[in-house]
Amino acid sequence: MSTNNPDPLTPLSNRPRRLRLNATLRGMLRETQLSASDFIYPLFVVHGSAVRNEVSSMPGVFQLSIDQLAAEARSLVALGIPAVLLFGIPAQKDPVGLENFADDGIVQQAIRALKAAAPELVVITDVCLCEYTDHGHCGILNVPTNKGEAMPRPYLPDGYLLNDETLAVLGKVVVSHARAGADIVAPSGMIDGAVAAIRAALDGAGFEHLPILSYAIKYASAFYGPFRDAAHGAPKFGDRRTHQMDVANAREALREAALDAAEGADMLMVKPALPYLDIIRQTREQMPQLPLVAYQVSGEYAMLKAAARNGWLDEPKAALETLTAIKRAGADLIITYYAKEAVGWLGNG
Ligand code: PBG
Repeated sequence: MSTNNPDPLTPLSNRPRRLRLNATLRGMLRETQLSASDFIYPLFVVHGSAVRNEVSSMPGVFQLSIDQLAAEARSLVALGIPAVLLFGIPAQKDPVGLENFADDGIVQQAIRALKAAAPELVVITDVCLCEYTDHGHCGILNVPTNKGEAMPRPYLPDGYLLNDETLAVLGKVVVSHARAGADIVAPSGMIDGAVAAIRAALDGAGFEHLPILSYAIKYASAFYGPFRDAAHGAPKFGDRRTHQMDVANAREALREAALDAAEGADMLMVKPALPYLDIIRQTREQMPQLPLVAYQVSGEYAMLKAAARNGWLDEPKAALETLTAIKRAGADLIITYYAKEAVGWLGNG
């Protein structure tokens, strides 16, 4: 078929525009549909009462105290959003992150408050050390002055994230989340063997039924910047490149996905989302058995918000376009700070 029609009297037999003539036809033939049930909404929980701190780099996103959660949970359910992803900001930080697995820790309290207010809301907990440790890293560090949490390893660099020592802590964290009533746990630290260790810890405590959503493919991305303001989880020194993935790698992502699947992950995640649509697509194809979640991260949200506030983008259209693209690439579910606004915009499509 020629791509132009030099002779206007010769009819073009292929005219894709025929099917775009009106909104009804376009709606009938739309290949990717977004709906409220696709979204998971992140929540940041802090100590205190009557706290609603807007995160300056994430307009519309708030750190909430426990007493704010019942209303939040009910409004999410009313919008049809089925799940939240919970992050906690502890009262105190220390080298291990003790509040992370305390019965009355901030996340444990939040789980109970959410489940009491809206039992049908699925509560997913982020499982990592970075918000709880005083150094801001995602695990136990190799420090010559370690006070008993790990044996110093002179042959590893100072500050190196110790893998297997960290696994033991993650096991305690997931069991405490499970006991508080979490529905799904989501390890986000890119620690080798985390899924297997967490599975064993959950099973050992009688939580064989609790699913694991693994942040299987998490890149060492610049797009987490605003989140680190929201969750107070920025590393005090160094970065996360000894555990999070190199942004340039795709084949390695498939290895990570395969390992986590073999360790018993029930769902896989790719993070961030929009800059990694190729990875979402490849993971979808290589791992067709497992549900795939994509995380539209804080920097993706902040970019759109900033442009919209300057009048440079039509926010509803641009945000829905990114969410549609993420689903079209192969994500079954999307973790997004836009969840609530997007539900409103979908109705006006
Ligand atoms: C780690 C964690 C991070 C995010 C989710 N879980 C931060 C990091 O790895 O540094 C980032 C989420 C976002 O940017 O929205 N607990």
